[in-house]
Amino acid sequence: MEKEEQKVENEKKKRILSGIQPTGIFTLGNYIGAIRNWEQMQEDFECAYFIADLHSLTVRQEPAKLRKQILEAFALLLACGIDPKKSLCFIQSHVPTHTELSWILSGVTQFGELSRMTQFKDKSAKHADNVNAGLFTYPVLMAADILLYQADFVPVGADQKQHLEFTRDIAERFNSRYSPTFTLPEPYIAESGARVMSLQDPTKKMSKSDENPKAFVSILDTPDVIMSKFKSAVTDSDTEVCYKEGKDGINNLMSIYSVLNNKSLDEVEKEFAGKGYGDFKKAVGETVVEALRPIREEFDRLKTEKAYLEEVYTEGARNATAISSRTLSKVKRKVGLL
Ligand code: TRP
Repeated sequence: MEKEEQKVENEKKKRILSGIQPTGIFTLGNYIGAIRNWEQMQEDFECAYFIADLHSLTVRQEPAKLRKQILEAFALLLACGIDPKKSLCFIQSHVPTHTELSWILSGVTQFGELSRMTQFKDKSAKHADNVNAGLFTYPVLMAADILLYQADFVPVGADQKQHLEFTRDIAERFNSRYSPTFTLPEPYIAESGARVMSLQDPTKKMSKSDENPKAFVSILDTPDVIMSKFKSAVTDSDTEVCYKEGKDGINNLMSIYSVLNNKSLDEVEKEFAGKGYGDFKKAVGETVVEALRPIREEFDRLKTEKAYLEEVYTEGARNATAISSRTLSKVKRKVGLL
C-alpha cells in the first residue's frame, strides 16, 4: 500500500449503526442508555441512525398513530442532537435494500436458530393472538439493517445482544459459503451508559410500556411532571445516599444523577452526605429537568417544521440507499442472481 493510501486507511473512522423503534415517546432510559451516547459518538465514528419502523409492524399498530409516531421519533432523534450533517439518519422503510437483503439472508438462516431467540419466545407469549411470521423473522431484518452498512460496532442494550450474535453468525456463514462480503459487527458498550430502572420498581428496567406512568420519565414530560415522578420514586427505609447492593432505588437515582452531571458515584455520595432522600430526589429531578429542557424545546420547534423534516429524511434515504446498494449488489452477484 502506498504511504498516502495507508494514512487514509488508518484515519478512516469506524462505522457505528443503530436503530430505534418508533413506538411511543422515548424515555429517560432510552436517552441515557442509548441516544445520548449516539450523539457523543458522532465525533469519533461514522454514524448511521435510523427509525426501525418496519420492525414495529410485527405487533399490531394503528396506522394513523404509527405514521405520526414515525415522524415524531425522527424529530426526536434530531432534537436529541443527532446531526444530519454529521450522521446518516433515515427511516428504515424508505430504504428498500433492507427488506431485499433480509429476504436473501433468510435463505442462509435456519428455522431452529430463530426459534431459539428469547425475544421471539417472550413476544409470542405476550402477543399469543398474533404470533406472525414477521415476529419470527425479525432478527433477519435486523441483520440486514446492520450488514448492509458494513457496521463495525452496534450499540445495543442487553435485550438485543442475542440478535447481534445472530447477525454475526449469519455474516460469518455467508462469508464462508460465498466469499468475504460482510464486516462482522461487534457490540458497542458505551463508557457511560447507565441502565435506567423503573422509578416504581427499581429491579425492573424503565420501560415506556409500563402500565404505571410514574414508573418512567418520558423525554417530553414537563418539568412539573418530572419533579413529581422523582418525588414519588421508590427508595428504601435507610437514610443514607450511598451506592450499595440492595439499595436499588437509590442506586438508580444515583446513577442517573452521576451520568447527567458527569460525576462519579463517590462524588455524588460526598455531595449528599448528611442530606436526606427528599433533598436528593429533588436534586435528581432538577438535573433531569435541565437535561431534558433543550430537547423538549427543540422538539416543539421541529414539530412545526414539517418541510424541513421531510427534506432531512428524504436526503437521508437517498444517501442510505446509495451506500447500502453497494453491499446489496455484491450480495446478489455472489448468490448467483442474474
Ligand atoms: N430491534 C431493535 C430494538 O428494538 C431496533 C433495531 C432494528 C436495531 N434494527 C436494528 C438496533 C439494527 C440496532 C441495529 O431495540
